[in-house]
Amino acid sequence: MFDAEKFVKEETEKLKEKLTDKAMIACSGGVDSTVAAVLAKKAIGNNLVAVYVDTGMMRKNETEEVRKMFENLGLNFKIINASEDFLTALENVTEPEEKRKIIGERFIRVFEEEAKKDGVKYLIQGTIAPDWIESGGGERDTIKSHHNVGGLPEDIGFEIVEPLRDVYKDEVRKVARLLGVESKERQPFPGPGLAVRIVGDITKEKVEVVREANAIMEGIIEKSADEGKIEKPWQYFATLLSSKTVGVHGDLRNYVYIVSIRAVQSLDGMSASYSKIPHEVLEKISIEITNKLGDKVNRVVYDITNKPPGTIEFE
Ligand code: XMP
Repeated sequence: MFDAEKFVKEETEKLKEKLTDKAMIACSGGVDSTVAAVLAKKAIGNNLVAVYVDTGMMRKNETEEVRKMFENLGLNFKIINASEDFLTALENVTEPEEKRKIIGERFIRVFEEEAKKDGVKYLIQGTIAPDWIESGGGERDTIKSHHNVGGLPEDIGFEIVEPLRDVYKDEVRKVARLLGVESKERQPFPGPGLAVRIVGDITKEKVEVVREANAIMEGIIEKSADEGKIEKPWQYFATLLSSKTVGVHGDLRNYVYIVSIRAVQSLDGMSASYSKIPHEVLEKISIEITNKLGDKVNRVVYDITNKPPGTIEFE
């Protein structure tokens, strides 16, 4: 049985011993990196700086929410806007692993620049066990290179420290609750962000469409759960597919994109079963997406695949 209190105590001690100089943490605002940041702050106080990179692939209002959370946690932090950089690097890239590698590498480069400016020796990451297990190594097949592992170049200029390397999502949530981390009940969000929720090539316009579709999906699912109409799924999101289909917008024929919505039950993301959301709720989501994004999306489909065989994210 995982003992969160013991974990916090032991990990803080280990970090105190390990981190003899300034450290930086790559903090996305998600539960993993926030828990890692709070642990490191407990160990070395203001010798830690949390860096949040806005890759342009974030959810609606995410950057502002993260800023508030960092302020409330009393973290020493920086927010770097690198959206244009990431979009340019991803231009015309369609292969999922290539996207992940590019994003991982850009991330590290941005941190490297910041770390050099601040004279940092250590980079802390919120990597958890499924991230590196699924990124392959040894006998395991590479399913997906999680951005904080697979994208890591060989020649990084500082030492990587991963305090959550051996724990699973449900355990991180226990630690988050214990530490009073605000984002404790947020659903998981992949490191590469909305980039893996756009099948095929990424454009600014597609990012805006998928961002809005995700906001609609999240809003309706959360409201339905609050009203007791559904049990809140473990994860729920929208993906923009690469194919176009024929539809009607106003009185006119159009030929635009498909959005796939997905909701799953899972314990740790390693396996999952699709959520049996009532049609009434699915219909509401479909109508709102096509009403708001009607000139870009004319069809919404619900993904009824378990993991395996489908992974949770499409890429
Ligand atoms: P998959 O799609 O591999 O996802 O079934 C399992 C869980 O991991 C999340 N995910 C990621 N998390 N970095 C992360 O920190 C990543 O690169 C990444 N890719 C997927 C996914 O959202 C799901 O919760």
